[in-house]
Amino acid sequence: QNEKDSQFIVSNWAKDHYHRLLEHDEEGQSVGWSYLRQRGLNQTTISTFELGYSLDQWDNLLKSATAAGYEQKYLEKTGLVVVREDDNGQDTGRRYDRFRGRVMFPIHNVSGRVIGFGARTLKPHDKTAKYLNSPESEIYHKSDVLYGLYQARQPIRSEEQCYLVEGYLDVLSLHQGGIKNVVATSGTSLTDGQIRLLKRYTDNVTVLYDGDAAGIRASLRGIDMLLEGGLNVRVVMFPDGDDPDSYIRKVGDQRFKDHLETASQDFIQFKTDLVSREAAHDPVKKAEAIREVLQSISKVPDPIKRQVFLQQTSQAFGIDEQVLITEYNKLVRNAT
Ligand code: GTP
Ligand code: MN
Ligand code: MN
Ligand code: MN
Ligand code: MN
Repeated sequence: QNEKDSQFIVSNWAKDHYHRLLEHDEEGQSVGWSYLRQRGLNQTTISTFELGYSLDQWDNLLKSATAAGYEQKYLEKTGLVVVREDDNGQDTGRRYDRFRGRVMFPIHNVSGRVIGFGARTLKPHDKTAKYLNSPESEIYHKSDVLYGLYQARQPIRSEEQCYLVEGYLDVLSLHQGGIKNVVATSGTSLTDGQIRLLKRYTDNVTVLYDGDAAGIRASLRGIDMLLEGGLNVRVVMFPDGDDPDSYIRKVGDQRFKDHLETASQDFIQFKTDLVSREAAHDPVKKAEAIREVLQSISKVPDPIKRQVFLQQTSQAFGIDEQVLITEYNKLVRNAT
């Protein structure tokens, strides 16, 4: 049994421990379960994603794990237990649980093994971070993980399409609503590792980011990276202030699915809409907007797709195709 195995084993044990607390402990029931119920999640979803609850105590996990015979070393290596250091970075010998009084979201790798946790605080006006994550470890590399991929991998293959969302709750609510081909970046900006991972399952991605300025910015950045990765990209926007989770809760499963159909745009439409809304009738801004779109097109590895996108852009902006292609070639030349 090597180092990594020991970390997998203790993570799996912790997942079971947190789940047991959620289902059977008094605090788990009255605090954890009632929070999840209030967020609209049902027993099936909680079981499928093996959700849990960490007690609001300093060392419940540490004590339970030690009593069950787990070595403290591995609790520390996986970040489940934190080493308290003094101001000079010296180990004080004191230890405490990283996750306390939080709803626990185990993060699985594609083989279904638990490699880390996301954890949400239940206190609305807390000074502490809304979400805490496991730190990087030998088994958890944040930039190579997509939350929910283990549960979504078969549906992604059969639907030949994946929905990409920002948050844990977005994955859970959509899955519960019958949209099972959904994964989350979990707040990090999309990485090349995550794109490579996705590409093992499908070439078609639809970005469903939050309907706020941050979400739009993240979509724009994500789109270019996905295009560069050779994926086909579509985008669905939500009203400002809504994310996929709040929106499906608001309108219901069927209307949400209708929205995915009717509001789905390819990236040219999405970018064109976005930039032309700002550009309006200002020719300088319009030219900038067109260059923005050309910039994205230049990321597409497939020359035939590039050609089709250039045609689409010329139509969308009402610009002669030859003029656009000349402009495109200039831009590509300057970039290299
Ligand atoms: P809810 O408020 O529970 O609905 O969360 P949300 O998923 O809608 O949160 P938000 O849109 O603010 O953030 C999206 C994702 O970013 C979350 O699901 C987390 O994975 C991550 N995130 C948000 N806030 C924090 C934070 O304070 N710390 C860390 N590490 N991650 C965060
Ligand atoms: Mn979130
Ligand atoms: Mn947000
Ligand atoms: Mn959100
Ligand atoms: Mn949310």
